[in-house]
Amino acid sequence: MIIKILGTSVVVALGMVLVRKYRAYKWGRCKSSRSMKNKTVIVTGANSGLGKATALELANKGARVILACRDREKAQKALIEIRSQSRSGVLKVLELDLASFESIQKFADEFYRSEDRLDVLINNAGLFKCPYMTTKEGYEMQFGVNHLGHFLLTKLLLSKLKESAPSRIVIVSSALYKRAKLDIETINSESHYDKGMAYKNSKLANVLFARELAKRLKGTGVSVYSVSPGMVWTNLGRYMSISWWKMALLAPIAWFFIRTPYEGCQTILHCAVSEEVEGESGLYYRNCEKEAIAPVAMDDVLSKNLWDFSEKLCKQ
Ligand SMILES: NC(=O)c1ccc[n+]([C@@H]2O[C@H](COP(=O)([O-])OP(=O)(O)OC[C@H]3O[C@@H](n4cnc5c(N)ncnc54)[C@H](OP(=O)(O)O)[C@@H]3O)[C@@H](O)[C@H]2O)c1
Repeated sequence: MIIKILGTSVVVALGMVLVRKYRAYKWGRCKSSRSMKNKTVIVTGANSGLGKATALELANKGARVILACRDREKAQKALIEIRSQSRSGVLKVLELDLASFESIQKFADEFYRSEDRLDVLINNAGLFKCPYMTTKEGYEMQFGVNHLGHFLLTKLLLSKLKESAPSRIVIVSSALYKRAKLDIETINSESHYDKGMAYKNSKLANVLFARELAKRLKGTGVSVYSVSPGMVWTNLGRYMSISWWKMALLAPIAWFFIRTPYEGCQTILHCAVSEEVEGESGLYYRNCEKEAIAPVAMDDVLSKNLWDFSEKLCKQ
């Protein structure tokens, strides 16, 4: 009897491992072996989750990686960790709080002062379902950090990206953008705030921004990519509270669906380095492949309005 139970358990465990491996295979891998030696890359939010995993992979390819983080201590810790794991590359911390225009401007000034080139900008930092909060300038935090801060950062770095062309901008969105209902009029309003919808809207803003930016950068040699990393085990859920027993129940199921940061960063890497996507711009990628953009993000009027609105807010 015991042997039968043991045998069944082994078969079930093996089956589970195989299914997980098959899923991971379908998620895809960045297959490019391109060296990033003498290339400079900025990764926002590089002290945690996807940003940290991306920074490590880029360092392994020999890149000079700027860890653009809001907390210097956390960033320094991440730098030491990445350095201890990486085979090559150069790492540097530069302070960047995307919830403050002053900090973004300071970051850009320091970057121009100290760096010669910018080959890849990875707009990765983000917040998920936080309670209503505002940025220094008074804009709703998820919209402010996930979209607006990156909008300003990108605009400030554009001349360096153009100078260093061919260069790339990778914008980390989420498949949840498809369920967004973006209303620019109420985007910063506390009375209209729904933390889940605010996240979806900010991720739709990412895809709209990527499309509009790609149009405006046509012919400059700067390509723009929006990316969904899939569901990834990171610190993104810091504002969600799940009881330990729910966690224990969900963990075995989650194991099939949730990627490790290494697995999750593959599409970001693919868009940042791969020869395959050279010359493509304004498109959306998932599982290391192009994916058709949902109608909600194909609205050219909305992407233009969002651009004008973002520009107006950044000037105030
Ligand atoms: N994890 C997923 O399942 C998933 C799925 C789809 C899309 N994404 C997207 O992936 C991106 C990375 O998220 P993650 O999953 O790696 O989460 P994470 O581990 O929480 O990392 C988020 C990073 O953003 C930084 N950040 C937050 N607010 C910032 C600010 N005001 N200024 C500068 N940096 C700030 C965080 O810094 P601190 O550590 O200092 O807070 C952290 O480094 C996000 O854009 C997210 O929307 C994630």
